Amino acid sequence: MLVPIPDGLSFEDTACLAVAGLTAAGLARVWPLKGRAAVVWGAAGAVGRLLVAALADHGVNVIGIASGKRVDAVRAAGANHAIDRTTEDIPESVRAHTGGRGVAAVFDPIGAPTYEVSLQLLAPRGCLINYGELSGPVPAINLHQLFPASVFVTKYKGMHWVEGFHEFAGLISDALTLATKCPAVISEIAGRFSLDHVADAYRLLDSDARGKVPVLPNA
Ligand SMILES: NC(=O)c1ccc[n+]([C@@H]2O[C@H](COP(=O)([O-])OP(=O)(O)OC[C@H]3O[C@@H](n4cnc5c(N)ncnc54)[C@H](OP(=O)(O)O)[C@@H]3O)[C@@H](O)[C@H]2O)c1
Repeated sequence: MLVPIPDGLSFEDTACLAVAGLTAAGLARVWPLKGRAAVVWGAAGAVGRLLVAALADHGVNVIGIASGKRVDAVRAAGANHAIDRTTEDIPESVRAHTGGRGVAAVFDPIGAPTYEVSLQLLAPRGCLINYGELSGPVPAINLHQLFPASVFVTKYKGMHWVEGFHEFAGLISDALTLATKCPAVISEIAGRFSLDHVADAYRLLDSDARGKVPVLPNA
């Protein structure tokens, strides 16, 4: 299962992009969004950057959420609006950017701490797409909570949206080609480790560092 690496990208870039690219491409299929607005949590993360770019490419008004200076990468990936979650009121900023209506979809890889806010950001008949639980499991769904705005909730599993090697290879190639034109979609590197220091790589992951942690077998 090989995909050619375009000129200008390293093996490391490619390793950081492949699964994230597949995930973003599958997520972009979940809800009809052309001409509508969507919120992307973790928009400066590996999946988030590519999802922002994929949605923007499909004509979606993308609002990306990140922390601190990372909002610059979210704008560079194609978001119309970026929110710094460490300093801004997220519901207020989303309302201001959508004329008070809210968004048609929220993409949320965080889980426990963001679930309630994500529901608040939706316009009537919008959809919350949870695709990860980085900060703890999402709560059990209370149907009554979905009633005021008739919203939908789904839990994304990639294998039901992207199937077979040819589709995998095509979507990974698309992500790699995109990265050659828009390097902002490539996640930053939090740290690099040789295989004999792999325990340190796991320690860095446990420390909640931002960015990818490549382990280089031949270093
Ligand atoms: N369902 C599937 O098929 C599938 C497939 C692949 C990956 N995934 C999931 O996708 C998720 C994202 O992966 P990734 O590689 O993009 O991760 P990542 O690069 O670590 O990005 C996640 C970002 O979320 C933000 N974040 C962390 N804690 C947060 C919190 N408490 N509140 C708000 N934002 C927070 C951070 O950015 P800021 O600090 O800048 O906000 C972080 O960079 C993971 O949960 C992974 O398991 C799911």
